[in-house]
Amino acid sequence: MLTRATHWLSDRFGWGPFKKHALERRVAKSPWYYGDGATLMLLLGVLVVTGMAMMLTYSPHPDTAHASIVYITHHQTLGWFVRGMHYWSAGLLMVMTLWHVLRQILLGGYKFPREGTWLVGVVLFFAIVFMAFSGYLLRWDERAIYAIGVSLHLFGNIPFIGDTLVVLIQGDTQPGARLLTRLYTLHVVVVPAILGFFVLWHLYLVILHGVTSRGERRKLTHTAEQQRLRYKREAESEEKGEPFYPDTMVQSGAMATVVLVIVVALVLILGPSSLLPEANLTDRYVRPAEEWWWWWFSALVALLPPAIAPWFMVFFPLVVLLGMTLLPLLDRAPERGYRRRPLAVGFVVFTVVTLVGLSGLRLRSPWEGGPVAELPALPPGVELQADAEQGRRLFAFYGCTSCHSVAGSGGRHVAVDLAHMEAPRSREFLINYIAQPPPGIAMPAYRGWATDEEIERLADFVLVAQTFATER
Ligand code: HEC
Repeated sequence: MLTRATHWLSDRFGWGPFKKHALERRVAKSPWYYGDGATLMLLLGVLVVTGMAMMLTYSPHPDTAHASIVYITHHQTLGWFVRGMHYWSAGLLMVMTLWHVLRQILLGGYKFPREGTWLVGVVLFFAIVFMAFSGYLLRWDERAIYAIGVSLHLFGNIPFIGDTLVVLIQGDTQPGARLLTRLYTLHVVVVPAILGFFVLWHLYLVILHGVTSRGERRKLTHTAEQQRLRYKREAESEEKGEPFYPDTMVQSGAMATVVLVIVVALVLILGPSSLLPEANLTDRYVRPAEEWWWWWFSALVALLPPAIAPWFMVFFPLVVLLGMTLLPLLDRAPERGYRRRPLAVGFVVFTVVTLVGLSGLRLRSPWEGGPVAELPALPPGVELQADAEQGRRLFAFYGCTSCHSVAGSGGRHVAVDLAHMEAPRSREFLINYIAQPPPGIAMPAYRGWATDEEIERLADFVLVAQTFATER
């Protein structure tokens, strides 16, 4: 009776064929770090579940969004845990996505016959990046409004259509209710739907074409047919192959579980990301702030000369997109694995070192400034007037030194040395600049943070500092 029932269920609901073709199929054995795919799936699952839980409470309107997140974090039962899990899963999803992509580059995972698997993955990559960006805008706090300002400014910079485009995106001339509704819909419906579809497609292709096997990595593979034969032989061999379920699944599950434990530990130790004060749209004074997975990008933009930075922000994603799309079409060499591909190894090492280095730079340079004890030194023989001297102290106090040096002294060289500005600046220019730097410049606005008088003193100091270079 029972077996007949199971048989019926298995037949009518397709479990039997699924088990036979998807689960018990034979695959080539792979090392532990191939578990990154399963890890990504698990993290996405956590994001969907915790995201849906927060949708029950979150209110996507500028008047209520921030308060609803305060409610989730501090008043709702286990709300902090749900938000924390969403936040840290998102962060680790970014890290693991990068890992996954770099691993494919390292091992040649995009090579024939897996070009399609890779290209579908490129769509997933950009969808995930969009999710990681749009997610924290929904908090509608100062960090969100800063990011919105920077990205809208980007679109606004596009010649001819820029202004119209910004209005189109916002649905308004100001960021407000319509923009938030749009971001919300994209974050919870449109992009997740795209993600879901492409994840399934990606998985289907992984089942169809397998993953880069040990054999492929050791021997030269010249054609897709050769690869298929070799993979099949490997999967079917007793020694080099295994059934996907349970062997491969247990192994990938292990890595996914370890990452999940890390997520839970981070939530318990650090909790969800701190919520900054609510966005204030009338008084646009905001300090640069972004989530840690964007640190490297902000540091890079801050390091670039201001004339180039806005262009870089537009073209960089396009270059990444183009590069990722062309990669499997251009690199058709027979080598796979990292042993015979020094270029791939070099690229991956360079990318990781750059990302970590830039993030470290951003971490050491808290753009919100903050009391820094060290005053910028004065050239020998220079005496400052009382106003400028006060400005020098404020310069250290407000953490200008975390980005600017003055004639090479102090400072971290993130931004221009104030003794070497492009041209002599007037006092008025300096006051306006410090109060409200042009949009797109990675410098905090000090209006509202420092008093007007303090901003004048800061300008007095920078005015004199301009002359330090020549006097030395
Ligand atoms: C987060 C880093 C950061 C901090 C902190 C910062 N700035 Fe800037 N500042 C920049 C960047 C970036 C620019 C744009 C020029 C560049 O890219 O080098 C800039 C430009 C300037 C300019 C204009 C330079 C020119 O060539 O016209 C002045 C003046 C200036 N900053 C003064 C200050 C003062 C005063 C403070 C502290 C109250 C301060 N900055 C704090 C990053 C910073």
